[in-house]
Amino acid sequence: MKKLLVVSVSVLFLYTVVSCHSIKKEKPMIEKSVFGKLADGSQVEAYVLKNANGMSAKIINYGASIVTLTAPDKNGKYEDVVLGYDNIEGYVNGTTYFGGIVGRYGNRIAKGKMTIDGKEYQLAVNNAPNHLHGGVVGFNKKLWTVDKTEITKNGPAITMTVVSKDGEENYPGNVKLTVVYTLTNDNALSMVYTGSTDKTTVLNPTNHSYFNLTGDMNNTILDHELMINADKITPVDRGLITTGKLEDVAGTPMDFRTAKKIGKDIGADFEQLKYGGGYDHNWVTNNYDKKVRLIATVYEPKSGRVMETYSDEPGVQFYCGNFLNGTVAGKGGIKYAKRTGLCLEAQHYPDSPNKPEFPTTLLKPGETYHQTTIYKFTTKK
Ligand code: BGC
Repeated sequence: MKKLLVVSVSVLFLYTVVSCHSIKKEKPMIEKSVFGKLADGSQVEAYVLKNANGMSAKIINYGASIVTLTAPDKNGKYEDVVLGYDNIEGYVNGTTYFGGIVGRYGNRIAKGKMTIDGKEYQLAVNNAPNHLHGGVVGFNKKLWTVDKTEITKNGPAITMTVVSKDGEENYPGNVKLTVVYTLTNDNALSMVYTGSTDKTTVLNPTNHSYFNLTGDMNNTILDHELMINADKITPVDRGLITTGKLEDVAGTPMDFRTAKKIGKDIGADFEQLKYGGGYDHNWVTNNYDKKVRLIATVYEPKSGRVMETYSDEPGVQFYCGNFLNGTVAGKGGIKYAKRTGLCLEAQHYPDSPNKPEFPTTLLKPGETYHQTTIYKFTTKK
């Protein structure tokens, strides 16, 4: 009897120690520092958001870019899971869009041409022969205003706004876009966008983070297992412009409805993969009704890290870093090789301004643009 009592007390003690350890919480906080200076002398600031579990996100007001994002592996080890640059020069000179918010229009507009209310606009052809990610100076190359930082009940948050003037990059209308990043206490990075304009224009921003859940950017992402909740893609032509059609993924290498390794079919003899040099396509995410739902899950078996992507957008561009080629020096001097990172860019479909059959990206005066996208991190053994 006495022995039983001693055993039960020790079990209870052990349980208390273990559970106290696992629920040990830190105080959510935000630390501000100087990240660098732009050529015109303006200062770029970095904000490190830390949640109650010790997960952190470093975000700069240049491009509203996510510079680092740590996530725990299956043993609780936190490592940086995004690609980025060490300093502001990298972000200013870079052409990879690491971590930034791209806009006004995420992805391509054919030949940079669009017509709104009968007027044709010629946008920059910065990805010949097309327009890509908002032009020469897109939202990822602008200094955003930090409106506020706060510790909300969900976790630390930062609100940033960018203003794009009427005629900037040849787009019509004065556009204002605000993004609230919250690093929630359940390990999700949430991005809530709101936008407005004073003339009819197009708006289709997205975050362009490249993830590598191994936490070691010497690895490729080919062993990451990906699920995309989409029955169809928007196929592209040779210049990566959507054809206007929707194509079933069933029976093709584009089928990620059941999770599979990204590397499994990437080398298949399939026209769309040849055009993209690998995966670089927009998936038509199921159940689009402007409500937030799970659109994709990535799992990396070695670390056990899982990233779920939730969004209210109708599509997601899955791009797996086909154009990285070992010449770009990133954080810690690592030269990112081909397919070192994967992007899941929640968005409207590419070239929607020229495809009336796609959900519209037009934004009119008096309307409010909304988007919520969430990257949530868990682990699996
Ligand atoms: C596009 C790629 C492009 C990349 C730029 C992606 O969103 O789909 O084609 O090369 O952005 O980093």
